[in-house]
Amino acid sequence: MAETLKSLDEVVSLCKRRGFIFPSSDIYGGLASCYDYGPLGVELKRNVKEAWWQAVVQRRDDMVGLDCAILMHPLAWKASGHVDKFADLVAECKKCNTRTRVDHLQGREGEETTKHAAAAGAANSLADKLCPKCGAAGQFTEPMPFKLMFETQMGANVEDSMTVYLRPETAQGIFANFANVLDTTRIKVPFGIAQIGKSFRNEVTTKAFIFRTREFEQMEIEFFCRPGTEDEWWERWKQERMRWYTDLGIRRENLRFREHEKDELAHYAKACVDVEYRFPFGQGDWQELEGIASRTDYDLRQHQRGMRTVTPWIEGGKDTLKVKLAEEHGEWKRGPLSYFDDETKERYIPYVIEPSAGADRATLAFLVDAYAEEEVRGERRNVLRFHPAIAPIKTGVFPLVKKDGLPEKARAIYDDLKGQLACFYDEKGAVGRRYRRQDEAGTPYCVTVDGQTNEDGTVTVRERDSMDQVRVSMDQVKAYLRDKLGR
Ligand code: GAP
Repeated sequence: MAETLKSLDEVVSLCKRRGFIFPSSDIYGGLASCYDYGPLGVELKRNVKEAWWQAVVQRRDDMVGLDCAILMHPLAWKASGHVDKFADLVAECKKCNTRTRVDHLQGREGEETTKHAAAAGAANSLADKLCPKCGAAGQFTEPMPFKLMFETQMGANVEDSMTVYLRPETAQGIFANFANVLDTTRIKVPFGIAQIGKSFRNEVTTKAFIFRTREFEQMEIEFFCRPGTEDEWWERWKQERMRWYTDLGIRRENLRFREHEKDELAHYAKACVDVEYRFPFGQGDWQELEGIASRTDYDLRQHQRGMRTVTPWIEGGKDTLKVKLAEEHGEWKRGPLSYFDDETKERYIPYVIEPSAGADRATLAFLVDAYAEEEVRGERRNVLRFHPAIAPIKTGVFPLVKKDGLPEKARAIYDDLKGQLACFYDEKGAVGRRYRRQDEAGTPYCVTVDGQTNEDGTVTVRERDSMDQVRVSMDQVKAYLRDKLGR
């Protein structure tokens, strides 16, 4: 009987024990909220990203990919609104001076301040809240904004060095390349641009292992559509993204949509829905896994406006007043980030639907959902029931014993498989223990070469979840596994 996960600690401990995820700078005592992916973890996360890329880019005709620099011109962050608005409201405990995000403060009953109450942000709404560090009740300063972007200096000479930002989202690189993509491909609206890459936020409170960290990877899509069609595309992307998680094995009952309240929306969004996952934090918390925002033409318009300081596209484009007047007269519609629609013969700035997921957060959800502890045939085992597409190792190959020519045969099978399937060869210890190790790594199949192999040329193939074993002829084993693993 499988037991579900009661606390995240079990996954954290398995991740460390089996080499999925380690605290960063572990030998120096770790660095808060930074993590390193170990040999199994790096394969798992790569598979998550690969599954996403295949689903949203390679299997679609209406999507292209990008890989943008982390550092962008600081004006891009001014135009996007991040320099002025990308901040969390924090309140400082007057007793212990710890700053906490206002929407993360809890009362005695345990419920957090909702985001819109936090946005309202009045100190009196915190009267019943407790400091998470010292426990003092209602001892908070007035909430104040805390900027989330990491800054650094670019350039060696004092006179030409400038402050640049580590990107807090991959999205802006996509918007900044909108015209480049249109000019160099034959793609037409509606279409999307996808990107996977690192983002950085100086988060006030980090949380729960790799759930909220200061350095993380995003998997983002900006999908450009004709104004007026955005609600239809938003709905389509909601369904697409939910299906991606369930197709890769996440149980539907652990996923849900949560639509943002109007006063909780980010400054650029017309609507936003989160795909939430039931993470085992505390009493089983629903938390954001991915956001799907309807961003209107906000970003392209903002960049078009921002561009004027370097590329004057309106006559007198450096003159703020002239630009404002030109925009009021609809000039922005013919700006460099506009699009001419061949079908409708209109020029417009496309609207955007943005499905934005976290690669680390998705990896955590896959780990948590796959984890089971169970008693089988009188023995306890931990197993990660990963979908084959994301399992770090697809097949373990073992000789039953290290004699009678079994290792040579097992090696030959391993060498034949390893170019096409991520495989692991192991000849150490009792075979039962080798199976358990692969169960913990989430390996869907194990192949064992045993005494019978020498007699009839068959091997044992054991399936992870049912633990059923079948005999397959050695020369058929590759085709058998490829078929079972869908590769
Ligand atoms: N471009 C829109 C955007 O960045 P977001 O809701 O701030 O929206 C999107 O981030 C996704 O990125 C989140 O749903 C989450 O999966 C991931 N993410 C955001 N901040 C994160 C953090 N500090 N640590 C890990 N993942 C994070």
